Amino acid sequence: MTIRLLSSSDRPLLREATLANMNWDGPSFTFDDIDAAQELSHYFTSFPSGSDFGLAHQDGDVVRAVAWLVFLPDEDPGYGFVDADTPELSITTFTDFRGHGIGSALLAELIHQARHRGLTDISLSVEDGNGARRIYERAGFNVVGRNGSSDTMLLSLR
Ligand SMILES: CC(C)(COP(=O)(O)OP(=O)(O)OC[C@H]1O[C@@H](n2cnc3c(N)ncnc32)[C@H](O)[C@@H]1OP(=O)(O)O)[C@@H](O)C(=O)NCCC(=O)NCCS
Repeated sequence: MTIRLLSSSDRPLLREATLANMNWDGPSFTFDDIDAAQELSHYFTSFPSGSDFGLAHQDGDVVRAVAWLVFLPDEDPGYGFVDADTPELSITTFTDFRGHGIGSALLAELIHQARHRGLTDISLSVEDGNGARRIYERAGFNVVGRNGSSDTMLLSLR
């Protein structure tokens, strides 16, 4: 098992992960849907820009999970947007590997590296009913806002 940094060559992987995130509750979205919607495709099309970074949890050639941070501007905010200086977290453990602690471990490492890089906060969006909320709460994220049927959560690294 290794944890490695994501690069621009991982964009197809982040596209898959973004689709999995949108479909956490069942197959509502297709690749065409996420490619066509800027508010979804911006999570992977220009990663990594600026101070964006992310990690893959990998066993041999098989990526089990990804977690990544994207800084988005005021004019193109993400679902969990707080401000342009606060990166938004996306995290996905691919289907066969869920429920074995991989997501929690990867999130802990991402937070550790974010702190080391001098980041001060991380935001995210979690839809009502998504059990992912529990790993966020355990990592110390708190609800700071509401966007449609989702909570915006924030972790202070200060
Ligand atoms: C949420 C997710 C990243 C967690 O990764 P993981 O490797 O399964 O996480 P862990 O094994 O460390 O922790 C499991 C926790 O996640 C919760 N969870 C949420 N969705 C889950 C799923 N589909 N399968 C298993 N656990 C899930 C579990 O309830 C569990 O909480 P608990 O320990 O209090 O019971 C992963 O399940 C996933 O990719 N889900 C689909 C996409 C998604 O919802 N992404 C987040 C969008 S906000």
